[in-house]
Amino acid sequence: MKLWGGRFTKDTNELVDQFNASISFDQRFWKEDIEGSIAHVTMLGRQGILSEDEKDQIIAGLTGIMQDIDSGKLVISDENEDIHSFIEATLISRIGEPGKKLHTGRSRNDQVALDMKLYTRNEIKELDERLLHLLHTINNIMKDNVETYMPGFTHLQKAQPVTLAHHMGAYFEMFKRDRSRLADTFKRMNTCPLGSGALAGTTYPLDREYTAELLSFDCATNNSMDSVSDRDYLVELLGDMSLIMMHLSRFSEEIILWNSNEYGFVEIDDAYSTGSSIMPQKKNPDIAELVRGKTGRVYGALMSLLTTLKGIPLAYNKDMQEDKEMTFDAIDTVKGCIALFDGMLETISFNNDNMEASAKNGFTNATDAADYLVNHGVAFRDAHGIVGQLVLYCVDKGIALDDMTIEEYKAISPVFEEDIYEAIAMKTCVEKRNTKGAPGPASMMSIIEENETYLKNN
Ligand code: ARG
Repeated sequence: MKLWGGRFTKDTNELVDQFNASISFDQRFWKEDIEGSIAHVTMLGRQGILSEDEKDQIIAGLTGIMQDIDSGKLVISDENEDIHSFIEATLISRIGEPGKKLHTGRSRNDQVALDMKLYTRNEIKELDERLLHLLHTINNIMKDNVETYMPGFTHLQKAQPVTLAHHMGAYFEMFKRDRSRLADTFKRMNTCPLGSGALAGTTYPLDREYTAELLSFDCATNNSMDSVSDRDYLVELLGDMSLIMMHLSRFSEEIILWNSNEYGFVEIDDAYSTGSSIMPQKKNPDIAELVRGKTGRVYGALMSLLTTLKGIPLAYNKDMQEDKEMTFDAIDTVKGCIALFDGMLETISFNNDNMEASAKNGFTNATDAADYLVNHGVAFRDAHGIVGQLVLYCVDKGIALDDMTIEEYKAISPVFEEDIYEAIAMKTCVEKRNTKGAPGPASMMSIIEENETYLKNN
């Protein structure tokens, strides 16, 4: 059934119907559509725009439809243009005349704006819960690995020793920021567009604040034209999700590298690895690769929506129907990626010995050797040059700084004494770095404690 047609003298072209229809994807928010309608009708009843009896009949009808769709008794038919038409038509066919009053003081423009907001609000909560779970996983790894030494990299070259707890802590910060961005988006979008009508409000004495309250919005929106054409919050959400994906993708890239034979820092659990159809020895990090790969489609959704919106004059235009499919796809993708990545991380095993050996073999303690000289009165620039010579010597002999004899040290600089070994030991290098945010165990422990408080209170 069409909600319009009175002013038409012939049927629309079949291809036009198909092209125009959104029911194949907007049926996703059937529940939100009914919830919005129930709130609208409750308000119409309270304002005396509908009689008590009409209001009760409509609400009973809508509740029945909700139950029947839920149980599978009522199947959403895609012969309708959109979910709004389907629900209204079903209501009218079930309860007759009062059903025709459901749409009083409302347009599909404010209705779809509402439905999309209701749907998005729920999804933001869901995304947030998944991120919270991921943060628990990361913090658990941090707690167990305050003294697991590994190389920290810059330019993908071994740079200075850090710990696994420290490395994981960087991702904790990223996903924590992601949660706060989602919360910001939620806060800004949480205003109710219902009652804005097609674009210019209505002539009925609606109580928009009451409807907003019924649907747990902070308040009703301020401008009816903006209400029906605002999709900013979707752009923001897609931006938030793009950042989540960017973080997951960087993390995935590290897991892929760490899982390679060359690094051997981690082993992905069998439950989260896949095999090759030809090479029997292979265990591939497909989950991490797919997460990295799916980042592209989420960025794509952001670009797509921004481009769709850029030339649209006020107020509602049909272009806006294009806000849905890619947003839905992006939400599904991000939720799936967080869950899969989280599962992979929870079950991964870390090869602590390989990590520590890698840190030792990469001259990650060279800065500490220079600091040793500085502490014995050598100017930093000279110390830098001396340690450069040590490294060159070691590279030539295929050894680590820790493996040089004291005579070899003294031959390059007489300032070196026996305590150099202690000064450049991995444990010392990390333990001395205890400024806030550094990998030293004391500073790491206080961050972990802060994380625990955050996880408890959020
Ligand atoms: N399916 C439409 C959408 O998603 C619903 C609003 C239709 N409004 C209209 N004036 N045709 O945007």
